[in-house]
Amino acid sequence: MDSFLIKGGVPLHGEVTISGSKNAALPILAATLLTNEPCVIRRVPDLSDTRFMVKILESLGALATFENGTLTVHAKKIKGYADYDLVRKMRGSICIAGPLLARLRHARISLPGGCIIGARPINLHLKGFAALGAKIKIDGGYVNATVKKLVGSTMFLGGRAGPTVLGTANVMMAATLGEGITVIESAACEPEVVDLANFLNAMGAQVTGAGSPTITITGVDKLHGAEHEVIPDRIEAATFLIAAGATNGEVTLKGARADHLRAVIDKLSEAGVSVERNGANLIARRKGKLKPADITTLPYSGFPTDVQAQMMSLLALANGISIITERIFESRFMHVSELARLGADIEIEGPSAIVKGGKPLSGAPVMASDLRASAALVIAGLAAQGSTQVNRIYHLDRGYEGMDVKLKKLGARIERIEEK
Ligand code: EPU
Repeated sequence: MDSFLIKGGVPLHGEVTISGSKNAALPILAATLLTNEPCVIRRVPDLSDTRFMVKILESLGALATFENGTLTVHAKKIKGYADYDLVRKMRGSICIAGPLLARLRHARISLPGGCIIGARPINLHLKGFAALGAKIKIDGGYVNATVKKLVGSTMFLGGRAGPTVLGTANVMMAATLGEGITVIESAACEPEVVDLANFLNAMGAQVTGAGSPTITITGVDKLHGAEHEVIPDRIEAATFLIAAGATNGEVTLKGARADHLRAVIDKLSEAGVSVERNGANLIARRKGKLKPADITTLPYSGFPTDVQAQMMSLLALANGISIITERIFESRFMHVSELARLGADIEIEGPSAIVKGGKPLSGAPVMASDLRASAALVIAGLAAQGSTQVNRIYHLDRGYEGMDVKLKKLGARIERIEEK
C-alpha cells in the first residue's frame, strides 16, 4: 500500500487545475447504460473509483475506452446483473440499479454494506423504485428489482438525514424510461444531480427542476447517445482552497466553480482565508491569523460533509474553539484520532467535534481511514512542522486525481512511497 511522505511547513504557491467531479462522473457513467448508442463523456477524472465503474460497465457487456479524460461507452447489449464483489467494493456502484431497471426491467446487484463513515442504507433508492412499480426482493445478499412497466408517480424521497444524492440520481434515471410523469419531492439539490439531469436531457430525457427539491421527469420511449462534459470537482477545489489557507500560501484554482462552493467560501472567509474571483479562476489566500468557526454539515447548499474533515485540519490551526457538527454521516470522525497524533486537540461529543485550535502541529505517521479523512491528514501534514507519513493512500487515490503531483507543483515537499 502506497503512502505519502510530507515535509511540512511550506506555504503552497501557484496554480492548480481542478479535475472533473468524481461524484458527478459516477452516476453519469452509469447513465450510459440507458441507451444502446455510444456516449462520449469528457473531463472524467482518472481515479480508481472511475476506473472501477468502467470495469462494472464492461462486466455488464458495455464496450469502453478511456483516453485523456474522455470516456466512450457503448452499452449495445447488456445484462441485468453485476458481479457481487465488483458492486460490493464501491458504494457508488449502486447507481447502476436505476439504469438497469429502466432499460431491462430487472436488476440484480449486491446489497452495498455499511462503510467506515456510516451505515449508508439504500432504503430510499428502493422506496423510489417501488413507487415506480418495481417489486423488490433481497436474497443471498442481492437486491433483485423487477418490473413489467415502470409507471411514473409522485414520491417523497427525504430520509432521516435529508435528501439522498445517489438515491435521487438512481430514481431519476429509472424514471426517464417510465410511462407518464414522475415527481421526486425532497430531491437532492447537489450540483452533481444537476449535471446528471443535463446529461440525461442531452440523451433525450425530459427532466426539469434538477437543483431544486422537486424534480419532474416525463418518461420517454427511448434515449439516444450523447456527449457531455463533467462539472469540475467542488470537493477537490475546496480541498485545495483549504490547503492554501492552512499553509499560509496563495493558490489559484483554474476551472473551479465558485457558485458550487458558496458555503465553503463563506466559512473560509470567517476562518480568515479569502477566496476571490479573477476571471474564471479562484484565488485563495490567508488574511492574517486563522480564526475559529462553527460548522454544521448539511445537504447542498449547506456545508458539505465531504469537506468536513479537511476543514477540521484548518480549524485545528486557528487559535480558539470551533465546533464542527456532522449531520449527514454518523461516524465520519475517523480523522480525529489521527489528527491527535499530529498534536491537534479535538474532542468528540455526540455528533460534534470540539476543536481546541492553535496547538502547534508536528509531523507523525498517520493512517488514512477514508477518502476525505486522507485529504484532511495531507492538509494537516502540509501545515505541520517536520515529517508526516500518511499511510494507506489508496483511499485518497479513489477520489483525488494526482493529488501528490498537483501539490508538488504548488511547492509542497511530498513524495509518494510505493510499496514494492
Ligand atoms: N440515506 C438513507 N437511506 C438511503 C440513502 C441514504 O437513510 O437510501 C442516508 C445516508 O445514510 C446519509 C444521508 O442519507 O445519512 C445522505 O446520504 P446520500 O444518499 O446522500 O449519500 P450517497 O448518495 O450515498 C453521495 C456521495 C458521498 C457524499 C454524500 C453526501 C457519491 C458517489 N457519493 O453519497 O461522497 O458524502 O453523497 O453528500 O456521490 C465522498 O466522495 O467522499 C463521499 C462519501
